[in-house]
Amino acid sequence: MSMYALVSSGGAAGVTTTALALALTWPQPVIVAECDPAGGAILAGLFAGHLPAPRGLLGVASAIARVLASQPCDVIADCGRLDAGDGQPASVLAGAALVAMVIRPTLRYISAARPRIEMLLELRGGPERLGLLLVGERGHSPAEIARTLGIPVLASLPFDARTASVLSDGVGRRASLADRPLMRAARSAGPAVARAGAGSGQPGLAAAATGGSA
Ligand SMILES: Nc1ncnc2c1ncn2[C@@H]1O[C@H](COP(=O)(O)OP(=O)(O)O)[C@@H](O)[C@H]1O
Ligand SMILES: [Mg+2]
Repeated sequence: MSMYALVSSGGAAGVTTTALALALTWPQPVIVAECDPAGGAILAGLFAGHLPAPRGLLGVASAIARVLASQPCDVIADCGRLDAGDGQPASVLAGAALVAMVIRPTLRYISAARPRIEMLLELRGGPERLGLLLVGERGHSPAEIARTLGIPVLASLPFDARTASVLSDGVGRRASLADRPLMRAARSAGPAVARAGAGSGQPGLAAAATGGSA
C-alpha cells in the first residue's frame, strides 16, 4: 500500500489537521504516522491527552520509513515543518508515494514554500509526485500558486476553525464531524492525493505545467 507524506514550509499551516481530516475520511484503512521532528500534536489534539505520547523516534527514522512503507494499508505521515537543517524524516520524505506540502494561499506561505520545494526536488530527484494542499480560500488562486511554485495543487480545504480545533487541539464538539465543511472537502481531497501518488496524471485543481484551471 502507499505512504503519503505531508509537510509544511512553516507557520503552522495546518499539516496535522489536514493529515487527520484526510485520515478520518480516507476511503480505506489508513494509519497516521506522527513523524514531525518538532514533536507531534496528534495525541494531545484529536485524542485529547487520553493516550500516552512517547517522543523521540527521529533517530530511527529510516527504520520507521521501511516499516511504514510495508504496512498492509495506506499511511499518511505527518512530517511537520520542512526545516533548513537535517532534522527532517528524510527517508520518509524520499520513500513516500507522494509528498504534499500544506500551505495557506497567501504570499507569506507561498514565498516560504519555494526554498522548501527546492529541498524536496533535490531529496526526491525531481518534481514527480509532489503537490500542494491549500488551507483556506482567501488569497491567491490555485492556478496562480501552481504556476508560481511549479507543482500542482491537489486540493483546497476550506477554513473551518470549528472543526480544525477538534482535530488539532482536541477542543470543541466532536458530534457530526462528518458533515462539517473541512471533512466534506477532505473526502474529495483524499482521492486526489491518492491519484497523484499513483502517478495517474489527473492533478487535482491546477496543473503546474499549464497553469491549470481551478
Ligand atoms: N482548515 C482549517 N481551517 C481552520 N483552521 C485550521 C485549519 N487547519 C488547521 N487550522 C488551525 O491552524 C492551527 C495550526 O494547525 P496544525 O494542524 O497544528 O498545523 P501544523 O501541523 O502545520 O503546525 C490550529 O489552530 C488549527 O486548528
Ligand atoms: Mg503539526
